[in-house]
Amino acid sequence: MNKILNKTLKFNNGLEIPQIGLGTYELVDEQETLASIKAALKAGYKHIDTASIYNNHKIIAQAIKESGVERKTLFITSKVWNSHSKYEQAKQAIDEILKELEIDYIDLLLIHWPTEDRLECWKALEEALDQGKVKSIGVSNFQVHHLKELLENCRVKPVINQIELHPALQNLEVVKFCQANDILVESWGTMIRGKCFEVDELKLLAKKYNKSEAQICLRWALQLGYIIIPKSSKPVRVIDNIQIEDFELTNEDIQLIGTIKQQRVGPDPDNFDF
Ligand SMILES: NC(=O)c1ccc[n+]([C@@H]2O[C@H](COP(=O)([O-])OP(=O)(O)OC[C@H]3O[C@@H](n4cnc5c(N)ncnc54)[C@H](OP(=O)(O)O)[C@@H]3O)[C@@H](O)[C@H]2O)c1
Repeated sequence: MNKILNKTLKFNNGLEIPQIGLGTYELVDEQETLASIKAALKAGYKHIDTASIYNNHKIIAQAIKESGVERKTLFITSKVWNSHSKYEQAKQAIDEILKELEIDYIDLLLIHWPTEDRLECWKALEEALDQGKVKSIGVSNFQVHHLKELLENCRVKPVINQIELHPALQNLEVVKFCQANDILVESWGTMIRGKCFEVDELKLLAKKYNKSEAQICLRWALQLGYIIIPKSSKPVRVIDNIQIEDFELTNEDIQLIGTIKQQRVGPDPDNFDF
């Protein structure tokens, strides 16, 4: 088994999260999803990232069952979708997630996007924590002003912020704020959602280390201390994406990555409408 999959980072509540997980956005085809998740679990992945809106909780439950992996050895993240961010709806969404995943606790539950109802959604997450339905709670796509507002109004501090973060969107303002406030940073879209193969600086580093551009992005994020959740519907790529412990980027390489043109591939958290 690849040792890198056992590496964990500690939350501000003392619990730990495996630094590498499997992303599952757009994994909806039943056979494809089963194959991808089973390949990941067989390879030793311990951490799966999903969300209500991905519509794949039930397939994930089936893949876990068919893999014969013990639930307590896994770390499962899900997220409350925007349509359910009012207090009562968020409470219902949490129960639905537990039911669909066939689990009696969620390791990490996030607010998916900072909707206008984010503070009442957070209250529902805090209560789910009190009730033992979730072990840790956090946010996703929060900008610095959203985080400041939450820190001023919460009873329980978020453990993590999952944000768009890759060589073409290094998001340093949010990263620095999270690090200063003991909130772990989790990268989504680490491989620039498949666009990493078009970036000259990454092509250069891929050649230098005889690795793929995807592996350069993942190694970069790992070295900077971010949690990564690469997604692939192809078992062979699920395995390739963790072959990143046999090389190390130098400071010069990281500086070169720092010069890459910055551009979002996902929605702007200050201006989304869904
Ligand atoms: N919180 C949020 O708002 C949010 C938003 C987006 C994503 N996420 C989470 O973060 C995870 C990762 O983000 P993402 O899926 O958007 O982007 P990503 O992991 O950067 O990239 C996934 C894309 O890269 C391709 N790919 C994967 N491995 C590859 C490889 N070795 N070689 C070539 N292509 C490869 C995949 O295609 P194939 O499937 O065809 O291999 C897919 O098109 C998601 O799955 C989800 O769990 C969260």
